[in-house]
Amino acid sequence: MPSVSLAEAKALSARAAVGLVREREVVAVGSGSTVELALEEIARRFAEDVRPTVVVASRKAEEVARRVGLRMSSIEKVHQFRLMLDGADEVTPSLSLIKGGGGAHFREKLLARMSENLTIMVDYSKLVRRLGENTPLPLEVVPFALPLVERSVAPLGLSPSVRMDPNAPGTPYRTDNGNLILDCRITREPADESALETALAHVPGVVATGLFIGMTSRVLVGMPDGRVEELLPGEGPVHGTLPPVVQEAISARRALAKTHHG
Ligand code: A5P
Repeated sequence: MPSVSLAEAKALSARAAVGLVREREVVAVGSGSTVELALEEIARRFAEDVRPTVVVASRKAEEVARRVGLRMSSIEKVHQFRLMLDGADEVTPSLSLIKGGGGAHFREKLLARMSENLTIMVDYSKLVRRLGENTPLPLEVVPFALPLVERSVAPLGLSPSVRMDPNAPGTPYRTDNGNLILDCRITREPADESALETALAHVPGVVATGLFIGMTSRVLVGMPDGRVEELLPGEGPVHGTLPPVVQEAISARRALAKTHHG
């Protein structure tokens, strides 16, 4: 039975990740609720005169950074980051990610490409056996191209639906870039994740997929017993067996689901 809540597990991973941030450096930061905790922690942990500057991936993260008193910079001024901190919606045993639950994955990917080290902060509920197990794959799509993209993804084993704005019933969600999000249920497990990413990236109108393959440097997972596990690339499944930490996360998630559903 998990002894810490998912919210606590998430906060633990954010706290551990902020331990990697250095005084006065410019750090890239993604978007989402875990990132918001990390921004608050950066502000709390560093005295004003040595406080790091951040470049963030969304307007929402920008608001939080401003509220907690962090200095912000932009990619016109910074060409490379030593470190990027970000959350994820799913992490597979080989550290492939699905991101974009908050619709910010285009800017997150851009910042990740500019970073030497992409550190992902998640609670244990985000660890999965395979891509698409718990969440659809988001694609950011130019509105004009929507019909073409919808037709093009079906043969790739994806079932698309346009994300709606939770705050404006009946209206499609718009990203910070003014585009739409197509949430794609993965109906056929991809034999080759990179080939899927390449095929999707070549569909005209797809601005960015939420697939992050081979980009993760480290994952810090807040576990059900309150410890933080560090997962590194190359420690994935051996002969089809799941790493113990993934097994543990999946059992804890099941236990949690049972408690919630009675
Ligand atoms: C934003 O578009 C996403 O990529 C987030 O990084 C991801 O959804 C994780 O969000 P949480 O930290 O809120 O779980």
